[in-house]
Amino acid sequence: MKNYTSINDISNLSETIKDAILLKMNPFGYSEIGKHKTLVMLFFNSSLRTRLSTEKAAKNLGMEVMVLNVNDVWNLEFEDGTVMNMDTTEHIKEAAKVISQYADIIAIRAFPKLKNREADESEIAMTSFKKYATVPIINMESATAHPLQALADAITISELTEHKKPKVVLSWAPHPKALPHAVANSFVEMMQYLEVDVTITHPEGYELDPKITKNTPIHYNQEEALKDADFIYVKNWSSYNNYGQILNTDEKWTMTKAKLGKAKLMHCLPVRRNVVVEDAILDSAQSVVIRQANNRTFAAQVVLKKLLENL
Ligand code: CP
Repeated sequence: MKNYTSINDISNLSETIKDAILLKMNPFGYSEIGKHKTLVMLFFNSSLRTRLSTEKAAKNLGMEVMVLNVNDVWNLEFEDGTVMNMDTTEHIKEAAKVISQYADIIAIRAFPKLKNREADESEIAMTSFKKYATVPIINMESATAHPLQALADAITISELTEHKKPKVVLSWAPHPKALPHAVANSFVEMMQYLEVDVTITHPEGYELDPKITKNTPIHYNQEEALKDADFIYVKNWSSYNNYGQILNTDEKWTMTKAKLGKAKLMHCLPVRRNVVVEDAILDSAQSVVIRQANNRTFAAQVVLKKLLENL
């Protein structure tokens, strides 16, 4: 593996999931592989799970870790050929090369602004670091993808699957803020690779990028979609076609105990209780959200290990 910016960077998914589960059983089994290697994590946005689980994963492999909150340092310029006489102070061309001298691997979190679809889809932060850095890049959630989360979700489903081909439903939920599409996109892409029966349910107007959903069934009737589900992944996202807008906050889409049935509840966290999911489910044994968050460590660890092996 040369970079991990999308789940398509994984060459053998089932083997990678198995390796992650083995790392979970023996987290310090490769504690020499990262000796004298440094992970630099750059955050343009807030994080709890990604920051701590990725740092823990790196330390399990013996790496040093440096964390930089990018908003605390010089304003970065990403456009080529710009006359930098306004607010930006340092160009990505220098910044990426300088950071590469301190890092063996760079991990980046850079959310979309949700104002301009074309601008967000250009993934300027991720693509610029990939272009100008001289070390591997990990995506810790960008405008369109959250591949570490999707890998943790795949590990969780693999651990808990009782049938050969479980039914997995991605169910939209209301939220007071406009949220990105990254988690939903990467989850759908990941489910398309796995041996699962995947369905998406959301109100009309919340269709994800058709280049992502492809032939995945979409139901506007949530009750019908959830029938006989083994795993229900609840997530809000803003409209893709009316880019970044909130079209619906209808609480009838909130996940309830009655709707969950016998399925396991998945969510990437953080979750707004009693808006996205009812307390009664989050506090029940059917919720696997804490396991998902734990698996973030082993998703990051398997990715870091594969990158370190290729340095
Ligand atoms: N799920 C997830 O990425 O959590 P954080 O935003 O807290 O990192």
